Parts: sequence; C-alpha cells; structure tokens
Amino acid sequence: MNAKYDLKGQTAIVTGGGKGIGRAIALGLAESGAAVVVAGRTLEPLEAVAAEIRAKGSKAMVVQTDLVDSAQVEALAAKTVEAFGRIDILVNNAARSFLRSLMDLREDGWDKVFDTNVKAVWLLSRAVARTMMARKSGTIINITTVGAEKAELGMAAYGCSKAALKMLTRCMAREWAPFGIRVNAVGPGLTRTDFSKPLWSNPEMEKHIGAALPLGRIAEPEEMAPAVLFLASEGARYMTGHTIYVDGGALTM
Ligand SMILES: NC(=O)c1ccc[n+]([C@@H]2O[C@H](COP(=O)([O-])OP(=O)(O)OC[C@H]3O[C@@H](n4cnc5c(N)ncnc54)[C@H](OP(=O)(O)O)[C@@H]3O)[C@@H](O)[C@H]2O)c1
Repeated sequence: MNAKYDLKGQTAIVTGGGKGIGRAIALGLAESGAAVVVAGRTLEPLEAVAAEIRAKGSKAMVVQTDLVDSAQVEALAAKTVEAFGRIDILVNNAARSFLRSLMDLREDGWDKVFDTNVKAVWLLSRAVARTMMARKSGTIINITTVGAEKAELGMAAYGCSKAALKMLTRCMAREWAPFGIRVNAVGPGLTRTDFSKPLWSNPEMEKHIGAALPLGRIAEPEEMAPAVLFLASEGARYMTGHTIYVDGGALTM
C-alpha cells in the first residue's frame, strides 16, 4: 500500500457503523489498518461489524451510544481514549430523516432530525477535538448528502440539517486548523441502504431513478468508503473545509 494511505496505528470512531454506509466505512478503515470503534444505538449489528473487522486482523470495539444524549457522546470519546490511547479519525455518519412535506412535518420531528444530524455532530466532534488538540493532529469527516445542495420534496428538515452540517464542517475546519485538525465532508448520492429503501426497493422505481443519473445507477455503500479513506489519510493533508460529492453526477443535473 502507498504509505500515504496507510492508517496503521491509528484509531477511528465511526458513528452509525453497524450498517449501510457506516458499516462500509468502518470496514474500509480497518482494511487500511486502523483500529475502529463503531457506535450506534443497536448492539447486534455493531457486534457483527466488530467481528468482521477482527476477522480482517484489525482491532475493533463497540460502544453503544445514543448520540442525542450528550453524556453518552462524551462517554464515547472517553471510552475510545481509554481503550486505544488516542483518536486520529472521527467519521460522523449517523443520521435520521423523515419523509414529510413542510406542511405535515411536526415540530418534534424537525428537532429530532437537527439533534441527530447537527447538534450531535458538534458535541461529539468537540469532545474528540479536545483529545486531538492535545496531540495537534486529527481528522474529522462528516457524512452529508447531495440533498444539502438540492431541494428534494418531503426532505426539508433533512436537507436543511445537512446544509447546516456542511457549514459546521467549514466552521470546525477554520477554528481547529491551528490545532492540527482537518475537517471535511463526503456527500453521497442515493445509496442502497435501509435509509433510502423506499426509493429503491421497487425495481421499476430504482431503474427509473438510476437511469436519470449521469452514471446510470444508484450507488452501493462500499462506493462511499474510498473518499472517506482519502480524506482520513496523509494524502489529503492540505485539504480542510471541503465536501467531496460521490453522487454519480447527480449535482451536474
Ligand atoms: N442512503 C442514502 O441514499 C444516503 C444518501 C445521502 C447521504 N446519506 C447519509 O449517509 C449516512 C449513513 O446513512 P445510511 O444510508 O447508511 O443509513 P442507515 O443504514 O439507516 O444507517 C444510519 C445509522 O445511523 C445510526 N443512528 C441513527 N440515529 C442514531 C442515534 N441517535 N445515535 C446513534 N446512532 C444513530 C443508526 O444506528 P442505530 O439505529 O442502531 O442507532 C444507523 O447505524 C447518513 O449521514 C445519511 O444522511 C445516505
């Protein structure tokens, strides 16, 4: 492996690492040599991913965490440092969404989306950045979406939360650059996970949506990992505050 992309000896946290895009990112980081802490609310899928990582010869740990609980967020950072001594990479991947028009969206629904997709990212990044500042080194990667750029029907709360996350990425990048911390984002297009199942579970609908994209199909979760691995690596050492869209060309339309 090109040494620039080798993550051996590093420790990563991936939120929502039990399934979908988070699982693919966790496995990709492990394949590049990092020890990976997977966090989420549901234990079983997290344990399964940790077992897959160990089978690849990397270290793994599960920390059951509800990211909307600030005490659990602090505990996730503390437990990682306790187990591995340091945090080099944080991937803020966990998110939630509701398909509701602006007229039908409830106030608590809006709050739940923002609490998970924005506030939790700020709280966890801050807890982790404190430990990175002490070493003057670290990288944070936030998972956003093409929906941060394009207004999708019924997705206002989600799209607004991810647009806020894009700005939070820039703010963290600017404030923490003097402390040796880089902060970037990866924005997937429509990807085959449980999150987006209503859009691809019907083969006709998937074909229709895929055919409209310049690259002619929706994405697989594994296709999101390489951009994250690049941003986490020495190869991206002069990049901060940016979003890489991995979207099959969706944003050209
Ligand atoms: N799939 C797509 O088409 C698509 C497109 C663009 C962007 N994205 C983005 O990609 C990321 C991953 O999405 P995905 O499609 O892989 O979704 P997914 O399969 O539904 O996974 C979402 C993950 O987030 C975790 N999560 C949600 N709320 C949480 C909370 N309060 N505390 C801890 N963990 C929580 C879930 O775990 P638990 O339920 O166990 O907590 C789950 O592991 C998200 O940021 C999403 O916005 C997805």
